[in-house]
Amino acid sequence: MEFLTLNTGIQIPYIGSGTNTFGKENHQYDGKINDDTSEILSAIGAGYRHFDTAISYRNERVVGLAIKKSQLPREAFFITSKIPGKPRYVSSEKAVLDAVDSTLKALDSPYVDLYLIHHPWENLEEMVLVWKVLEKFVDDGKIKALGVSNFDEKQLNYLLEHSRIKPAVNQVESNPGNWNHEIIEYSLKNKVIPEAWGPLKKVDEKAQATLTEIGQRYNKTWAQVLLRYQIERNVIVIPKSHNLQRQKENLDLFDFSLSNEERAIIGQL
Ligand SMILES: NC(=O)c1ccc[n+]([C@@H]2O[C@H](COP(=O)([O-])OP(=O)(O)OC[C@H]3O[C@@H](n4cnc5c(N)ncnc54)[C@H](OP(=O)(O)O)[C@@H]3O)[C@@H](O)[C@H]2O)c1
Repeated sequence: MEFLTLNTGIQIPYIGSGTNTFGKENHQYDGKINDDTSEILSAIGAGYRHFDTAISYRNERVVGLAIKKSQLPREAFFITSKIPGKPRYVSSEKAVLDAVDSTLKALDSPYVDLYLIHHPWENLEEMVLVWKVLEKFVDDGKIKALGVSNFDEKQLNYLLEHSRIKPAVNQVESNPGNWNHEIIEYSLKNKVIPEAWGPLKKVDEKAQATLTEIGQRYNKTWAQVLLRYQIERNVIVIPKSHNLQRQKENLDLFDFSLSNEERAIIGQL
């Protein structure tokens, strides 16, 4: 695995596994939590050490359980979770404290590697107040790095200007149906590492045919080409699969590189 260094100095694996339907009945986002750790354990077996969860996914405890079952040390993993940008979690200092405590308890871990504000909301000043509470957890070593998700340029810029600890990551949707090129470039320019969520979504037939054709030159699949495109421009990817073969495929990205021309074609799909 290769790593990127965050603006905090800590290293983050280029590839993580999404988890938003893991540990749930019928692999449904809204499905009942069934504590099934098999998908996460299969990902760990394939080599994943970076997992992306969230309070909203309700499965932080399944991630914690899988880490325990793996018998690998906690430090072997990079775990991201997220606090929802909803009043219940952010309306007061106590609400934020309770949210972070609930994450740590669910993960059964003394710390979380990366904690994101899941979605921005209208009141930017209020967001800064929440950020200040989160900064105290960084001071205490309970959160190793802070970041945001789904922030546009204005929201990210406001936080960059008004924070003591700068956001290390901005997790945004990025795929051929919605590249989000501008906010990705703005984030990179400001030393905020972009992460692509839904990196394999919104690939229509035409885009898939183009990616497949490029992949044939390297003996890679359309999905591997798409993920490789992101990491070549310093975007972290968090693809999710319930299938061991595809989990392995999504990690196998470091033995080929795309040409400038191919990158230009992919970026315009
Ligand atoms: N911050 C946010 O607001 C936000 C929003 C959405 C998601 N996320 C995070 O981002 C993660 C990834 O996004 P996502 O789960 O929505 O979508 P995704 O990872 O882009 O795509 C998942 C789908 O792609 C399939 N797939 C995986 N690998 C494949 C491969 N090599 N070839 C062909 N198909 C493949 C999977 O099916 P199989 O299981 O059958 O392989 C699954 O249906 C989430 O799990 C979550 O952690 C964050």
